[in-house]
Amino acid sequence: MDPNTLSDSQGRAVRYIRVSVTDRCNLRCLYCMSSADFVDLGHNSILSYEEIDRVVRLFAPRGVTSVRITGGEPLVRKHLERLIASLSEIPEIKDISVTTNGILLGKLARSLKSAGLSRVNVSLDTLRPERFEWITNQSEIAEKARLGEVLEGLHASREAGLDPVKINVVLLRGFNDDELMDFVALTEENEFEVRFIEFMPMGNNGFWTPDRVITADEIVNRLRSSTNGLESLGKGRGAGPAQRYRIPGHRGTLGFITPISSEFCVECNRIRLTSDGHIRTCLFSDAETDLLAMMRDGCTDDQIVAAVEKALRSKPGGHNISKTGRQSTCSRTMSHIGG
Ligand code: GTP
Ligand code: 5AD
Ligand code: SF4
Repeated sequence: MDPNTLSDSQGRAVRYIRVSVTDRCNLRCLYCMSSADFVDLGHNSILSYEEIDRVVRLFAPRGVTSVRITGGEPLVRKHLERLIASLSEIPEIKDISVTTNGILLGKLARSLKSAGLSRVNVSLDTLRPERFEWITNQSEIAEKARLGEVLEGLHASREAGLDPVKINVVLLRGFNDDELMDFVALTEENEFEVRFIEFMPMGNNGFWTPDRVITADEIVNRLRSSTNGLESLGKGRGAGPAQRYRIPGHRGTLGFITPISSEFCVECNRIRLTSDGHIRTCLFSDAETDLLAMMRDGCTDDQIVAAVEKALRSKPGGHNISKTGRQSTCSRTMSHIGG
């Protein structure tokens, strides 16, 4: 490993930074952010684009090649294309992606692509309008959002040349497990990668219960018996956590993200920056380093890098969450960390 590469005490190199650009969202998904959870951080307490750019420029010569922009909902932050354009000028950064709920993609896919966005992951847990309304908690939102807008956003992303376009389906027993074959059918004609994600205990909103969790094994078994074959494709580009499969003849692929049934932490190459400027070395560890305060106190680049190196020395080996409950802590909701 290059001696400049940032790594943790277990020898895992950091290649991928997940940057949350806002804690705001235009939806209120029940498992992610309840209205009671929502605390608007306000403009001054979140990182400016210049500050985010500074942090990424410190990571880039130290081994980081991928940046994922998350939220809340990242597309609600004004002029996101400006941040993407400045990040895409960093020579070491080869991959810029966004995780979004897709509502605004129909409007923005083209301009984000022109600014330098490579690819997009879209959260979509149901293909039925009435269920979409329920899970996104539309009764709490002034400006209604529709399932049709997400579907439009998915197609607009492909048309704009974003590649791959992945769809994130958090599986919830009793809510969307009967839609498995509808999601699989989406991959028949479309080059989407549909990923089924095991439901993780995050935040304290009480929505997570062990009986809501559906493991990938259960789904793979169901797929093996209801399709004519499932070809294993291994891990994808950039070696994220998903295991990939294809149904012969389908243009798109399927993926499984298994934090509950099969921990992938030994391969973890990620670090996270929250919208209020805190570095988290693990999604499930509440130990954070406040880079926003350091930058606003006038710390030098060397001081910031030293603080990140120190944080990495205590990055946990793994998360220890299980199907029966949580052992690791993650008191922040998804909307603050961005997944
Ligand atoms: P790529 O592999 O780069 O496409 O991204 P991704 O799949 O990691 O990112 P995305 O934001 O789409 O997240 C998909 C799911 O994986 C979400 O439920 C995330 O919370 C989860 N996830 C992503 N990274 C990690 C991780 O390091 N640890 C755990 N436990 N879950 C993760
Ligand atoms: N478990 C698994 N995935 C989750 N996501 C949000 N909350 C959870 C959870 N508790 C997913 C969203 C989004 C991604 C960033 O994380 O659906 O696609
Ligand atoms: Fe990495 Fe922590 Fe996720 Fe494990 S739980 S893969 S260590 S971020």
